[in-house]
Amino acid sequence: MQIFKVGGAVRDRLLGLPVTDIDWVVVGATAEEMLAKGYRPVGADFPVFLHPQTGEEYALARTERKSGRGYGGFTFHASPEVTLEEDLIRRDLTINAMAEDDQQNLTDPYHGQRDLEARILRHVSPAFAEDPLRVLRVARFAARYAGLGFTVASETLELMRQLSESGELEALTAERSWKEISRALMEDQPQVFIQVLRDCGALKVLMPEVDALFGVPQPEAHHPEIDTGLHTLSVLEQSALHKQPLTVRWACLLHDLGKGLTPEEAWPRHIAHEHTGLKLIKAVNERIKAPKDCQELALLVGQYHTHGHRALELKASTLLELLQSFDVYRRPQRFEEFIVACEMDARGRKGLEQRSYPQADYLRGAASAARGVAVQPLLEKGFKGPELGEALKRERLKALKAYKENA
Ligand code: CTP
Repeated sequence: MQIFKVGGAVRDRLLGLPVTDIDWVVVGATAEEMLAKGYRPVGADFPVFLHPQTGEEYALARTERKSGRGYGGFTFHASPEVTLEEDLIRRDLTINAMAEDDQQNLTDPYHGQRDLEARILRHVSPAFAEDPLRVLRVARFAARYAGLGFTVASETLELMRQLSESGELEALTAERSWKEISRALMEDQPQVFIQVLRDCGALKVLMPEVDALFGVPQPEAHHPEIDTGLHTLSVLEQSALHKQPLTVRWACLLHDLGKGLTPEEAWPRHIAHEHTGLKLIKAVNERIKAPKDCQELALLVGQYHTHGHRALELKASTLLELLQSFDVYRRPQRFEEFIVACEMDARGRKGLEQRSYPQADYLRGAASAARGVAVQPLLEKGFKGPELGEALKRERLKALKAYKENA
């Protein structure tokens, strides 16, 4: 049997990037031989094994045939006769379809190295269409390598468009999609992921609520970029520039969905979009099956981001309601994430990327004023149950009034 390093490990080494996990392909072996050497099978009928010591993945060279729609609709053909070239041709991108032996001799039948140099993400063969998840993968690689100058080949984008239009994307499980989406959002340029999905028509299928924002105008005075879709991309870009966590990036992507529902007659204003958008945010959250913390923050940011922008003008009682809505006493981190999401929203506007956002520190100060109210003295006064809750609220309101006066 012959063993080759394949996929991302070869690609990233050639790009001079750090290699984290290594995938291997085994040519000329049977499953029985692998088991006899102590490799552990990953699944019952999946020709992938884990190395007994390193735990790295070793896959038998295989050809894949599609037997049905969606994930699970695969049959694998792995046998000792399958050649390295036959295995590589069924992979997604040319830059992912190179193999290397233990002497670092490169096998590159589909010109991955040429495409690496030309900074092109190009599919290897029509077998690309066997797995529709690859539409998301290509968009994710585009986001990851945008900084190096990579773009998607026009023929690949065309194939991605055909796959998006064919209805294949709908058959992807939410789990597989979320894995790609969440990884893509954590890349350096997550806005490129959304842009590529839009360019190939996949955004319309996966997140029509986000797609609908493109072409929707906003008032130029606050939004020099005008277009709500472009604004959303900029907010997402800012969230990555400021190294925000996944929760914040997800909330940034969804914060303005309500603007897609504004009737054209009302453009460019979007009155009450914070409220109209909630059902859309909920719909995306649930369809994509985002984790609970992402779902929650997206809804809260959707509902309250304009409160964040008007923080300095809010009455003490409104500030208190805002803090209560976030349960800032038990969940201070979530409120902090809200604050930064608002800041990203404010900066994700053409020419305003460097603006200051005094609202952020003002809100932090308000949160600490309210959180500074001690429970003990109220307990000592004999308050309990709902009365204690009311008393706490009164004290917190007092603290916020004092904070406002001194701010
Ligand atoms: N692959 C593929 N189609 C998929 C998933 C994987 O063709 N839907 C192939 C590619 O050759 C890829 C390799 O399997 O390079 C390993 O896949 P994976 O570990 O998911 O990705 P990497 O390319 O290693 O990239 P990453 O850095 O994102 O892990």
